[in-house]
Amino acid sequence: MLKVENLMVFYENALAINELSIHVEEGEIVGIIGSNSAGKTTLVNTLSGLLLDTQLKEKRKGGERITIFGRITFLGKDITNLWADERVKMGIVLSRERHPVFVESDVEENLKIAAYITTKKEMKENIAFVYKVFPSLVPLRKRKAGFLSGGEQQMLAIGMSLMAKPRLLLLDEPLLGLSPTIQVKLIESIVQIRKDANVTILICEQFARPVLPIIDKGYVLENGMLTLEGTGKELYNNPEIKAAYFGV
Ligand SMILES: Nc1ncnc2c1ncn2[C@@H]1O[C@H](COP(=O)(O)OP(=O)(O)OP(=O)(O)O)[C@@H](O)[C@H]1O
Ligand SMILES: [Mg+2]
Repeated sequence: MLKVENLMVFYENALAINELSIHVEEGEIVGIIGSNSAGKTTLVNTLSGLLLDTQLKEKRKGGERITIFGRITFLGKDITNLWADERVKMGIVLSRERHPVFVESDVEENLKIAAYITTKKEMKENIAFVYKVFPSLVPLRKRKAGFLSGGEQQMLAIGMSLMAKPRLLLLDEPLLGLSPTIQVKLIESIVQIRKDANVTILICEQFARPVLPIIDKGYVLENGMLTLEGTGKELYNNPEIKAAYFGV
């Protein structure tokens, strides 16, 4: 479904992604495991096309800081130079790091704002699906997003991504800042999203322990380089992973 070949991303002359090749098959949950500044956000921003937008903005200001090499193919089509909005229409939807939501709008308004690419009928179905996957949001539907807890905001942010009917959902550190109990709950919802909505999921995380059991395969990134890949089970049992990511 998604193929990334020899991707390299530079910020000025600092290399953030180095010769990265990965692939995601339809229906899979794939993990990108990496600690701080491994290149996770850079990768999903490149996949969603956001980085091209940033690159353009910087060019307009007269600077050319971001350089991208390599090739990205989605459903057999070369999307390397496609803008973010065109990628959303193709079904690539990113739920960004630190769950950005509209704090002055209530939960349901946030979901409606995120439904800009669908019809009214689809919007209703999608809202129902979001409440099914995240039942904790139901009693909060009229609450301003700014008054939600971190975990509830994260659920809302993922819910907003679901409003665009993704085929490939990119999740950038969904577990960040959440308590272990909420992390487990969120992970269960992610599994349910794959099952019920038939969505393929790429999840970037530094918290490997809760993520590895649910992924079909994973890639470990360190300083922009792929250092290890394997099935979720292989990575879970790997002593290096245990030492680096399980805090033992
Ligand atoms: N806009 C930018 N300008 C310059 N350097 C950047 C920019 N964004 C990221 N970098 C650098 O690129 C590298 C990868 O950063 P990135 O944010 O992709 O990592 P990450 O894995 O998402 O980290 P974190 O877990 O902290 O979110 C880092 O060295 C970072 O300092
Ligand atoms: Mg990041």
